[in-house]
Amino acid sequence: AVATRLEAENATISQGVVESNHAGFSGTGFVNTDNAAGCYVQWTHNASAAGPATLTIRYANGTTADRPMDVTVNGVAVASGLSFGGTGAWTTWASKSVNATLVAGANTVRVTGTTANGCPNLDYLEVLV
Ligand code: GCU
Ligand code: CA
Repeated sequence: AVATRLEAENATISQGVVESNHAGFSGTGFVNTDNAAGCYVQWTHNASAAGPATLTIRYANGTTADRPMDVTVNGVAVASGLSFGGTGAWTTWASKSVNATLVAGANTVRVTGTTANGCPNLDYLEVLV
């Protein structure tokens, strides 16, 4: 198995900023999206071959309210309103995984906040093939 970690701070961010004020993240920071529906983070993963993959999203949600997100791969939904519940603190990070099918070459993976609270804080996407 091969795991590729793609840091959120290097991804395309719509309605959000890179921050580092809550410890425990991988890389140099995490993405704090605005508290707004439609905010998103989009990664590009280059797959050496087409086939199934497990996509793992590391996040923190220091509130008690769910921060559901839609997950798309190459514009196609792989999860709708996937739950990203409270992790207990902004410094407590958790992971959530979904299965997807990748094409050979560039694959875009986008997570979009679906509620007015926006996304949880996002640390990275890991692609396991
Ligand atoms: C706090 C926290 C941020 C978080 C935000 C939110 O401001 O410091 O990291 O993104 O809450 O509710 O989304
Ligand atoms: Ca936020």
